[in-house]
Amino acid sequence: MAAEGLWLLLLLSCRGSSTRSAAGPRYSPDWSSLDARPLPGWFDAAKVGIFVHWGVFSVPAWGSEWFWWHWKGELQPDYQRFVRLHFPPGTSYADFAPRFSAVDFEPEKWAQLFQDAGARYVVFTSKHHEGFTNWGSKVSWNWNSVDTGPHRDLVGELGEAVRKRNISFGLYHSLFEWFHPLYLLDKNNSFKSQFFVSEKTLPELSELVLRYKPDLIWSDGDWEAPDTYWNSTSFLAWLYNDSPVKDTVVVNDRWGINCSCRHGGYYNCQDKFEPGSLPDHKWEMCSSVDKRSWGYRSNMQIFEVMNEFTIIQQLVRTISYGGNYLLNVGPTKEGQIAPIFQERLLALGTWLKVNGEAIYESRPWRTQKENRSEETWYTSKGPAVYAIFLVWPKDNVLTLSSPVVSARTQLAKKPRRR
Ligand SMILES: *[C@@H]1O[C@H](CO)[C@@H](O)[C@H](O)[C@H]1NC(C)=O
Ligand SMILES: *[C@@H]1O[C@H](CO)[C@@H](O)[C@H](O)[C@H]1NC(C)=O
Ligand SMILES: *[C@@H]1O[C@H](CO)[C@@H](O)[C@H](O)[C@H]1NC(C)=O
Ligand SMILES: *[C@@H]1O[C@H](CO)[C@@H](O)[C@H](O)[C@H]1NC(C)=O
Ligand SMILES: *[C@@H]1O[C@H](CO)[C@@H](O)[C@H](O)[C@H]1NC(C)=O
Repeated sequence: MAAEGLWLLLLLSCRGSSTRSAAGPRYSPDWSSLDARPLPGWFDAAKVGIFVHWGVFSVPAWGSEWFWWHWKGELQPDYQRFVRLHFPPGTSYADFAPRFSAVDFEPEKWAQLFQDAGARYVVFTSKHHEGFTNWGSKVSWNWNSVDTGPHRDLVGELGEAVRKRNISFGLYHSLFEWFHPLYLLDKNNSFKSQFFVSEKTLPELSELVLRYKPDLIWSDGDWEAPDTYWNSTSFLAWLYNDSPVKDTVVVNDRWGINCSCRHGGYYNCQDKFEPGSLPDHKWEMCSSVDKRSWGYRSNMQIFEVMNEFTIIQQLVRTISYGGNYLLNVGPTKEGQIAPIFQERLLALGTWLKVNGEAIYESRPWRTQKENRSEETWYTSKGPAVYAIFLVWPKDNVLTLSSPVVSARTQLAKKPRRR
C-alpha cells in the first residue's frame, strides 16, 4: 500500500462531487433527462452483491432456468426427453408450480449467509421470463407464490430478513414473458399494441415499488421490443420523480432494444460482461457460481462450479475497473442453498473480511493493472492506494512499477513474510 500525496487526494475529491439539492430536479420521460440523474451513492460504495434466481424453473431444475423455453419454445429433444422420463404424461409447465414447496426456505438463514459472504446488497428474482411472481401480485391471476406452491410472500420475507442486516434489497424483474397471451398478441402486432404492458408489466412494476420499496430494480427481458413499447422512460420518470424510492433507487440498463450499455442507471451490458479498460460509466458484472446456469439444476458438475480463486479474481478485476460484483446462486425448489454454493460464498466472505478495506467504498486508481507482474490490481481510497496481488510473487518480492514514490510515501502494511 503506498500513499501518493496531495494531488491524488484532490483528484479524488473532484470525482466524488455529485450531490444534489434537497428538492432535486424533475426528470422528463426521455433518455437525455433520465441518463443525467446521478446514481445514488450507496451503490458504488457497496461493491459486492448476491444475486438469487428462484422460481418454478427450480422444480424441473435441469439444464437452466430457461427450462420452459428450451422445452416448449425451442422444442429441444433433451428437454422433451427429460420431462417424459421424470413426469407423468401430459405434464405442463404449470404443473410444476405446486411442487415449488419452499419447505426449507428460512429467509433469516439466507440473509445471514449473504452477510457472511460480505454482500452489501442482494438482488432477488421477483419474476423471471416464466411470469411466475414471487409475491402475490394482483395481476398474476394465480401464477404466483402466494396462491400456488410456497403459499408465501417470498419477496417480502427475504426483503425483511436482508434489510434487518443493513443489506440493500434489489429486485430482478423480467419485462417480457415467453408465453403470456397478451405479450404474444402484442408481438404479433409488431409491438404496435401495448396490451401486455398496460395489463401486466407496468401494474406489476408499480406494485413492486409501492409495496416493497426496492433499493434497486434489475430489469431484464427487454430485448425483443423497443423502450417505447415498454413505456420505460415514463416508468423511470415516475420512479425518479414521484415514487417512494425516488432518492435512493438504482436501476440498470435493460429497458428496451439498444438500451443496454447506453441508457438507464448503471450498465450491465451483456451477462457477465467485463470491460478491458476503465469505463466512464458505473457498471456491474453479474456472474454465477454455477458457470452454466443461474437457476439451480440437478445436473451440475463440479468442474462447472467456479472455484474460490476465480471468484476473487473476477471480484478484484471488476472493482479495479470501477464495477460492482454481483454473484449469483440458485436455491433448490425447497429453498436450500446447496452446500457447495454456501462454501464458495463463505470463502468470498472470508477473503473480504481480511481485504475488504481495499474493496468497499474504494475508487479506481489512475492505473488499474500493474504492467510488470501477472496479476496485480489497484484500487484507492482517499490518499491510500491498494495493490492487490492474486499470485504470490516469485522470490517473495512484489515489484510495482506504477506508484510514483516520494519522501511522503508510506507503506501502510508490511508485506507478510514467509
Ligand atoms: C449500514 O451500512 C452502510 C453501508 O455499508 C453503513 O455506512 C452504515 O453505517 C450501516 N448502518 C448501520 C446502522 O450499521
Ligand atoms: C397474428 O396476426 C395476423 C395478422 O397480422 C393474424 O392473422 C393472426 O391471427 C394473429 N395471430 C395471433 C396469435 O394473434
Ligand atoms: C405509455 O406512454 C404513452 C406515452 O407517454 C402513454 O400515452 C400511454 O398511456 C402509456 N401507457 C401506459 C400503459 O401507461
Ligand atoms: C438498434 O441499433 C441498430 C444499430 O445501431 C439499428 O440498426 C436499429 O435500428 C436499432 N433499433 C432500434 C429499435 O432502435
Ligand atoms: C502500461 O502499459 C500500457 C500499455 O501497454 C501503457 O500505456 C502504460 O503507459 C504502461 N504503464 C506504466 C505505468 O508503465
